[in-house]
Amino acid sequence: MKVRAAALLSAPGKYETIEVELDGPRQNEVLVRVVAAGLCHSDDHIATGDLPVGKYPVVGGHEGAGIVEEVGPNTTGVAVGDHIVFSFMPVCGRCRWCATGRQNLCDLGALLLAGSRYDDPTSYRMTHNGEAVGQMCGTSTFAEYTTVDVRSIVVIPKDIPLDVACLVGCGVITGWGSAVNAAQTGPGDVVIVMGVGGIGVNAVQGARHSGAAQVIAVDPVASKREFATSVGATDAFETIEEAADYARSQTNGQGADSTIITTGITTGDHIAQGFASIRKAGTLVVAGFGNPAAVGVPISGPELVLYQKRIQGAIFGMANPTYDIPRALDLYRQGAIKLDELISRRYSLDDIAQGYVDMHAGLNIRGIVTF
Ligand SMILES: NC(=O)c1ccc[n+]([C@@H]2O[C@H](COP(=O)([O-])OP(=O)(O)OC[C@H]3O[C@@H](n4cnc5c(N)ncnc54)[C@H](O)[C@@H]3O)[C@@H](O)[C@H]2O)c1
Ligand SMILES: [Zn+2]
Ligand SMILES: [Zn+2]
Repeated sequence: MKVRAAALLSAPGKYETIEVELDGPRQNEVLVRVVAAGLCHSDDHIATGDLPVGKYPVVGGHEGAGIVEEVGPNTTGVAVGDHIVFSFMPVCGRCRWCATGRQNLCDLGALLLAGSRYDDPTSYRMTHNGEAVGQMCGTSTFAEYTTVDVRSIVVIPKDIPLDVACLVGCGVITGWGSAVNAAQTGPGDVVIVMGVGGIGVNAVQGARHSGAAQVIAVDPVASKREFATSVGATDAFETIEEAADYARSQTNGQGADSTIITTGITTGDHIAQGFASIRKAGTLVVAGFGNPAAVGVPISGPELVLYQKRIQGAIFGMANPTYDIPRALDLYRQGAIKLDELISRRYSLDDIAQGYVDMHAGLNIRGIVTF
């Protein structure tokens, strides 16, 4: 079938709407009508070329929710009409990582940015003018319809509106899990969240839910700081240095129990600033991405050793999508996670490039595309 989709023809580039030919589902695949997709910063990293992908054109989008329209032959566990959230990380359920409760590290992730099917780097489901088109994270939620591996979807209850459900496919779990799983926030903790956009505000929510006494938000954009306060931040500052000073003033000079880095374009300097803000034996969580070629974090080796500090990278909030996606939606239903409030603006497929201009201008916590 022919579907409209927002693609990058090359990078650096801008999202533009093209018509792609979409193949139907093969075994262990489904065709999904996308209802809503989130404008995560990672899709902008592939537009700027910070995160290079394996195949151009590529149809963007990895945060999304929709309704199953067609199920491949001999495919179990999902039915036409099911509501699903896309998991940007596929979950095979069998590899070492899936088998030990670390689905976010599933070995299928090796081809996350290849654009092809996970098991076959030569197999694609989208074409444009006869040429294969890559699918961001194997999903491509910036499309009216998409064909994905069943290992990239999680079936969810039908009472949750799909526009809010889409947010848990990346941003919510990534941020929440960075505070809950990666920082292991505990009661009474003092936590700094550096960069309170779509991911960071969910780290704020996760830290508060875990019992942090103080959650200090850092962002140069005043409206972001204000929003972070509305979802649980107790304090907010323009710079990490001010936040670190404040954390020390609240902890007898020690520093934050943990700091979580969720800046849009994460640099080595951000990581070093976060490292300086934590106490002895504190945890620095790094969840933001920057240019992979920019190697180097200016921190002192002896400070790492003598203060026994821990630096913890975190992909997808160190979460297990098949458990954590429905759990986050349960918590939403109970009022423990705010989702509706995170949606700042709604865009059409044709306006995705504008959505990213607005993201960079600091206008959105999360922009979403509705179809
Ligand atoms: N680890 C993962 O699994 C994962 C998943 C999704 C996204 N990400 C990455 O996380 C990062 C954040 O994504 P997002 O969608 O929330 O982006 P976003 O653009 O919505 O938010 C980033 C925020 O950082 C702020 N910021 C920029 N420089 C800052 C600084 N020096 N100090 C404090 N704040 C600063 C911006 O004002 C903005 O509010 C991106 O790099 C994205 O690619 C990682
Ligand atoms: Zn994302
Ligand atoms: Zn696996």
